[in-house]
Amino acid sequence: MMQYQIHNIFLFVLWKLLDVADTGLGIKEGGGGKDWWSRMQKGDFPWDQKDFRYMAVTVAGVTSILLYFNFRDTGREITWKEFVHRYLARGVVDRLEVVNKQYVRVILVPGGDADSRYVWFNIGSVDTFERNLEAAHMELGLEPSNRAAVIYSTESDGSFLLSAVPTLLLFGFMLFVLRRGPLGRGSGGRMGGPFSMGESTAKMMKDNISVKFKDVAGCEEAKVEILEFVNFLKNPQQYQDLGAKIPKGAVLSGPPGTGKTLLAKATAGEANVPFITVNGSEFLEMFVGVGPARVRDMFAMARKNAPCILFIDEIDAVGRKRGGGNFGGQSEQENTLNQLLVEMDGFNTATNVVVLAGTNRPDVLDPALMRPGRFDRQIYIGPPDIKGRASIFKVHLRPIKLDPGLDKDALARKMAAATPGFTGADIANVCNEAALIAARHLNPSVNAKHFEQAIDRVIGGLERKTQVLQPTEKKTVAYHEAGHAIVGWFLQHADPLLKVSIIPRGKGLGYAQYLPREQYLYSKEQLFDRMCMMLGGRVAEQVFFSRITTGAQDDLKKVTQSAYAQVVQFGMSEKVGQVSFDLPRQGEMVLEKPYSEATAELIDKEVRELVERAYDRTLQLIKDKKELVEKVGQRLLEREILDKADMLELLGPRPFQEKSTYEDFVEGTGSFEEDTSLPEGLRDWNQERGAESEEKSSTQDKQTTT
Ligand SMILES: Nc1ncnc2c1ncn2[C@@H]1O[C@H](COP(=O)(O)OP(=O)(O)OP(=O)(O)O)[C@@H](O)[C@H]1O
Ligand SMILES: [Mg+2]
Repeated sequence: MMQYQIHNIFLFVLWKLLDVADTGLGIKEGGGGKDWWSRMQKGDFPWDQKDFRYMAVTVAGVTSILLYFNFRDTGREITWKEFVHRYLARGVVDRLEVVNKQYVRVILVPGGDADSRYVWFNIGSVDTFERNLEAAHMELGLEPSNRAAVIYSTESDGSFLLSAVPTLLLFGFMLFVLRRGPLGRGSGGRMGGPFSMGESTAKMMKDNISVKFKDVAGCEEAKVEILEFVNFLKNPQQYQDLGAKIPKGAVLSGPPGTGKTLLAKATAGEANVPFITVNGSEFLEMFVGVGPARVRDMFAMARKNAPCILFIDEIDAVGRKRGGGNFGGQSEQENTLNQLLVEMDGFNTATNVVVLAGTNRPDVLDPALMRPGRFDRQIYIGPPDIKGRASIFKVHLRPIKLDPGLDKDALARKMAAATPGFTGADIANVCNEAALIAARHLNPSVNAKHFEQAIDRVIGGLERKTQVLQPTEKKTVAYHEAGHAIVGWFLQHADPLLKVSIIPRGKGLGYAQYLPREQYLYSKEQLFDRMCMMLGGRVAEQVFFSRITTGAQDDLKKVTQSAYAQVVQFGMSEKVGQVSFDLPRQGEMVLEKPYSEATAELIDKEVRELVERAYDRTLQLIKDKKELVEKVGQRLLEREILDKADMLELLGPRPFQEKSTYEDFVEGTGSFEEDTSLPEGLRDWNQERGAESEEKSSTQDKQTTT
């Protein structure tokens, strides 16, 4: 009957649940989910585990239901005949209960039957039952007063549970989706229903960070600033004694890969204050009101942990200037920003919470965010200079297994001289590529050659040995590069040449690598010489083959850019005068020029003239040195790569003095190494004053090594 059906269904459900618990939880927790299982096998009840609690409750519930159905007194089924002869005739029936118009429960007088308290039988319908009962009474000749009473009742036998199963399943499924789905996941891995959307996703950094300050190099000034913030929090007295207020925060800005995030990580790894980190984009969600709520929650968390440091990476996601059109998520972003402004400097002033932020684009940030009182300091981390690069190389050479003949310091200096303009991330990449190249050829250690190849690869892209050039094409490329090299060699302000190659790499067919000076100001003459050098390739093609190719496109683009910049931005044209306009950046749309048509015409004319002059001068030079270009071109065709020594051999010494080694570059700058000393007041930045002296001395040791 019904009960057995239910029984089966519950067994099935229980089995399914166990199954889900077994596989589902195992996957979710990635092995850790079995933790409670192994603990339980050891005889320990892991009540602190959520999964275990869920399991226990489910198992207990299902078991009790099963027990109920199994052990409740269900009586014995009998037939009508048996009822009449065995019970009715013998007068042991106390009363008859017609349940749900389906069956009749025969309640016996106490002691009437040893087996059970009652028996039951099915009936077709109540009418027939009544008629049959009447007939039986007549037959047995029972007096109406002796007849058993008939009661009608409705009882639930558990079938309502069955009808509720689909609803329950649906409800459970929805709950599951809410918890595990995108809504619930809003809170970064934490279990949370739709009601925890406003919870901040900020994470508290614990001791699991391996980055230390000694891993960050080449940005000493920024490092000192950050150390100072830690010191503010540790020793506020040092500053307050002199009447100074503690700054609220700092923005770290600079090009990609210069070490902003790394610096923050190092702070988290080494500072003895709580470090909370969050990503700017985590405030933006498709639901209205979530961003501000998260900001509020994050600051509440910070205040609870004060004194502490809060780091918001890529803050431009929320900190964009307000008022830039009110469409889409714009107003939500503005609300988030407003909340941030209020939290940083509102009535609920966050005492002893220092906010650091990182961004590539400080120019798009809202001015209100950048004003003193919020982000008091703007720390620019630019591409490192030559000393900085040497230090960064030392950091990234540390884990690499070098050839025993190589001196780490000397190598770092040499590489620093050969990689102008590289950022920290580029340098890390060079070191890694060198090791990869060495490993590819099964070398036991990494040598200088591998580093050279790595630099080439990072600058030019992958070498394409399989690309076959037609002989004529190859010749054109060789003379083109030779033209660049010769012009560079004989012009005073051109950059010293490092290498010429006609092996195709990346997109280019050949390249000449120069060593740009570490220079921040360029004179008009210097820019002019550079333009000539860039035109050298095209001119050489013209002189030798009397035809020009598409190979010079990149050069021409650079020439044009330089020429326009000189006229429009740097005010270097006499006719246009001392004015400077913004040139449109790549990908930007220009709707309106900031100058008149007449000026535009004048600018174009000046640019044309400038390029023309450069071309004429280059043409003259190439014609004068035709045999030399020929020589270099031929040698290139032979060997494919020429370096400086080859050039010296072919052309004789360069008529101008030039700097090429690390020592040349750093000469006159005071020291050979980056200055990493700390100011007096920051000596024990990570300690509270008055801490035990031995702790102090240990940090001082650390300082001297960083
Ligand atoms: N100053 C540095 N010293 C040592 N390594 C550096 C330095 N700068 C960058 N690196 C290397 O480059 C990697 C990327 O740096 P990081 O993530 O800090 O860049 P970022 O400035 O945050 O860039 P983005 O603006 O793109 O976020 C680091 O993991 C590290 O290996
Ligand atoms: Mg970063």
